[in-house]
Amino acid sequence: MASSDGGRPGVDGTLFRTVMRRWASGVTVATVRDGDDVRGITLSSFSSVSLDPPLVLISVDKRAVCHGMIGRSGHFCVHILAEGQTLISDRFAGRRPGEHAEFADCSTGTTPSGAPIIDRCLGYFDCRVTAAVDGGDHTIFVGLVEAGEATDDVAPLVFYAGSYRKIETTA
Ligand SMILES: Cc1cc2nc3c(=O)[nH]c(=O)nc-3n(C[C@H](O)[C@H](O)[C@H](O)COP(=O)(O)O)c2cc1C
Repeated sequence: MASSDGGRPGVDGTLFRTVMRRWASGVTVATVRDGDDVRGITLSSFSSVSLDPPLVLISVDKRAVCHGMIGRSGHFCVHILAEGQTLISDRFAGRRPGEHAEFADCSTGTTPSGAPIIDRCLGYFDCRVTAAVDGGDHTIFVGLVEAGEATDDVAPLVFYAGSYRKIETTA
């Protein structure tokens, strides 16, 4: 049951986090170029929105450096990570300080907007921002998919309860 917390609307942050930890997701990295700056951010908040037109969404913390970069450039390229790409996820989640702009060892191509394309991911969508919706401390960027590629057909990286997981086939 939802409860309020001293004037703060909604459930408290601890309950919110506890329930969200039970949500298993894939892991993506959105890359962006804004002028001379290139950067990536690890995101689990990626979803298909519409097939016609082809739209996806990402939800980005307003405090993240990429937030302003995506807003200004109007583009992002979102990559679905493969099982073996935990170091890339950690890098663009800020768990390897100073590496948010480090693409030399993991990207050999760029999109027309200049965003790095991460090699050996499962696939990516190059997107133009068509809406930026306020989402509390995040902004939901809706992107029109202008290009994309299904690249390596390998197992996805999964994030659950604060840890990376592998998919086990039971059937
Ligand atoms: C698996 C995983 C999923 C994440 N999902 C999101 C997300 O959906 N949105 C978000 O804003 N940050 C998410 N983060 C946190 C950002 O990757 C992290 O805060 C990032 O380093 C912010 O970059 P900054 O240096 O530009 O602030 C996630 C981190 C991990 C490890």
